[in-house]
Amino acid sequence: MSGTRPLVVVMHGVNLDQLGRRDPAQYGSLTLAQLEGEIAAEADALGLAVRFFHTNHEGEFVERLHALRDEGADAVLLNPGAWTHYAWAIRDALEIAALPAAEVHLSDVKRREPWRRLSVIEELCVVSVSGRGSSGYGDALRTLAAQLGGAER
Ligand code: DQA
Repeated sequence: MSGTRPLVVVMHGVNLDQLGRRDPAQYGSLTLAQLEGEIAAEADALGLAVRFFHTNHEGEFVERLHALRDEGADAVLLNPGAWTHYAWAIRDALEIAALPAAEVHLSDVKRREPWRRLSVIEELCVVSVSGRGSSGYGDALRTLAAQLGGAER
């Protein structure tokens, strides 16, 4: 049913598959499957198609970024987890993808440990959302939908 809807690939990085077992004060209590359910509903309401990807392996994350254009993605929404703070290869791969990108973090990475304050991908993203829990994904999707000319609610 995605038809001609713009396609956003949502990429979860290292340890995001452990949601539901991680500190709920930082990350909430949703599992990754529940979070994806919320994101899918939000995307549908915005007239976007979504496809999800998760890996705990940095090279696989990089290779999926390489594949985005060939798979017809119109935009990418990513939460690379801890890779955000030091994985320059992911930053380079995102630059190669050359698509509108949105960065999301469940926790407020600017107000936690100092090592979380740097995001190596932030300068490449049209929006960076952190500290808004699962609703941050909806906020980022709305920004991407506006960029892509998708239907706004
Ligand atoms: C995170 C924040 C990162 O610092 C952390 O390493 C994660 C999750 C977040 O969504 O808040 O794994 O990206």
